Amino acid sequence: MHTSFATTTRGLRRDSPPMRLFEKAKRLGIWNPSAIDLSRDAADWRRLSEPERDLLLRLTALFQAGEEAVTLDLLPLVQVVAREGRVEEELFLTTFLFEEAKHTDFFARFLDEVAATDHDLSRYHTPSFRALIYEALPAAMGRLAEDASPLAQAEAALTYNMIVEGVLAETGYHAYFTMLEANDLLPGTRAGIRLLKQDESRHIAYGVYLLSRLIAADDGLWAPIEARMSDLLLHAMGVIDEAFQCYEVMPFNLQMETFSTYALAQFQKRLERLESARGKSLAEIERVTARVIAEDDG
Ligand code: MN
Ligand code: FE2
Repeated sequence: MHTSFATTTRGLRRDSPPMRLFEKAKRLGIWNPSAIDLSRDAADWRRLSEPERDLLLRLTALFQAGEEAVTLDLLPLVQVVAREGRVEEELFLTTFLFEEAKHTDFFARFLDEVAATDHDLSRYHTPSFRALIYEALPAAMGRLAEDASPLAQAEAALTYNMIVEGVLAETGYHAYFTMLEANDLLPGTRAGIRLLKQDESRHIAYGVYLLSRLIAADDGLWAPIEARMSDLLLHAMGVIDEAFQCYEVMPFNLQMETFSTYALAQFQKRLERLESARGKSLAEIERVTARVIAEDDG
């Protein structure tokens, strides 16, 4: 039963971080994966060497399964937010799930129209990737159906937003985009990745906000959050390591440091933000978050 509605009592809080993200999502997140021209990409693909194709297919097999997993696994968090009556957050989360669906759609087009695969790509899913995407992510998100405690919410957000999006996806897309640009390859794919990166930066910003408000409300959450994040960070770095181990000579002369340095720097920056939320008021958290959202390019 509803006893009142935010919009007919206090009104929407337009200045709140989730409403600022919702505004950005309505502006930047409405691109259509089907409208991206992949014809030159398909021609580029045919000219690549076998190891080059293998590396691009390997990365896409991780991106594709990762996007499908985040699409499948987000809903329990949306339900928790809805039950708590956080309408501004739910408005934003409607764009979040739509965007993950479009990312899944986008990579599926790549596999069909550029790489023309038979879709049997699970051989590229190495042990660390499986530990995160096949196991840790659905476990942390699925648990919310029975346990909506602040700790369970924090573990869901840190797994989904800090590790899967904030380390794996963001690093993968950054390095992939940089590599394609340096080699002037796959222009349609690059255009899609550029848009997708902007979407991801809003998703991560929401996760950092959610974790910050949970930490600010209960300092006892900090220790388990920090411990769980270091565990999962090892798996995330393992994904990078395992991908590089598969090649004697790295196609495109890709350097492992391009991935690992970026991943660790982004993770460290957000970890510091989370730590600085300890003992803060919600108003302070919202002020800091609003500044980060204004500065972010997505
Ligand atoms: Mn995504
Ligand atoms: Fe995302």
